[in-house]
Amino acid sequence: GAPLRIAIAGLGTVGVGTVQLLQEHAEAIAVRCRRPVEVTAVSARDRHRNRGCDVSMATWYDDPVVMAREAEADVVLELIGGSDGVARATVEAALSAGRAVVTANKALLAEHGTDLARAAEAAGVPLAYEAAVAGGIPIVKALREGLAGNRARRVYGILNGTCNYILTTMEETGREFHDVLEEAQHLGYAEADPSFDVDGIDTGHKLTLLTSIAFGRPVDFGAVFMEGIRHVTAMDIQQADELGYRIKLLGVAEETEHGILQRVHPCMVPKQGPIASVDGVFNAVVTEGDYVGRAKLEGRGAGAGPTASAVVADIMDVAAGRTAPTFGVPVDRLETGPAASIDTH
Ligand code: NDP
Ligand code: HSE
Repeated sequence: GAPLRIAIAGLGTVGVGTVQLLQEHAEAIAVRCRRPVEVTAVSARDRHRNRGCDVSMATWYDDPVVMAREAEADVVLELIGGSDGVARATVEAALSAGRAVVTANKALLAEHGTDLARAAEAAGVPLAYEAAVAGGIPIVKALREGLAGNRARRVYGILNGTCNYILTTMEETGREFHDVLEEAQHLGYAEADPSFDVDGIDTGHKLTLLTSIAFGRPVDFGAVFMEGIRHVTAMDIQQADELGYRIKLLGVAEETEHGILQRVHPCMVPKQGPIASVDGVFNAVVTEGDYVGRAKLEGRGAGAGPTASAVVADIMDVAAGRTAPTFGVPVDRLETGPAASIDTH
């Protein structure tokens, strides 16, 4: 078939990882999609920086919004980040121009996902975001497709690689929070502003998206209770250990008698439970559905390779014509209902 043409906005950790994966596995991808995938346009801030990947075949744009509107492309990848500004403008421009969008940007979708899903529906193109939640773990597809027959009871898990890396390393080495954060930044795991990671905001963004898919609700980031890991000390971790627990930053969404409760906070999890052994940059998501019971997915939650893996899966869906509504059902079928708060629970 005709090549699927890709325009990439953002050539940082995730953008470069995606270019490398697309190039290294080009033949297998073409076989699986029955058509090749070609990068035809790219955009980032500094056109002179050596990025360690070859983008010489693509047209360079200084402005990703112009690229999203004008490039010869079927799909625009938004791999810039941020809930507003240029990332949002890029996605809106791509959808208005009738181009499919693939993004890793959970902040954008947690804040504006319902409106963007509506814009995608109006344009008749997919808005895909597997990479936005739990890096390489295919949890969006699992909830939206493989588990779609269930009524969800609860979704929870470790959704931030940076925090899990910090907590695990503190536990292994007895070092304190600040030393370890810098390491996670060097490894490419942290957000541009790492307070999003350590204050639980990034976990809240991802939880918002999981809640929307699992419970069929419009995204409601404002309803999420969030507390991060800044105040967790090596001593807390050691004491939890002596009691048979490990400390993990969890995001939890569950049905309660007051509505859906979404909360993010450090938890003491029993060592023999389903997620205590998830270490380092790994994430894990546990879902509880009425027919399937408990299901768990685990894998690397951040970093160039795992995130590129999820981005490319979305690209391949578009290439093969496999589309699904952004949050599992058309936007006008998302059900608004009461949101519970920690106070009412
Ligand atoms: P980086 O900071 O490494 O890369 C961001 C890229 O965006 C850079 O190439 C930068 O250009 C470009 N950019 C920034 N502003 C502009 C602008 N105004 N115009 C054009 N280009 C711009 O971020 P990541 O790759 O780590 O993250 C990208 C997205 O993926 C974010 O939404 C993040 O939350 C998400 N994500 C990240 C994961 C990770 O492990 N890193 C995992 C899952 C999701 P330049 O290089 O020239 O400065
Ligand atoms: N900063 C995020 C994390 C990147 O550490 O999990 C993946 O979304």
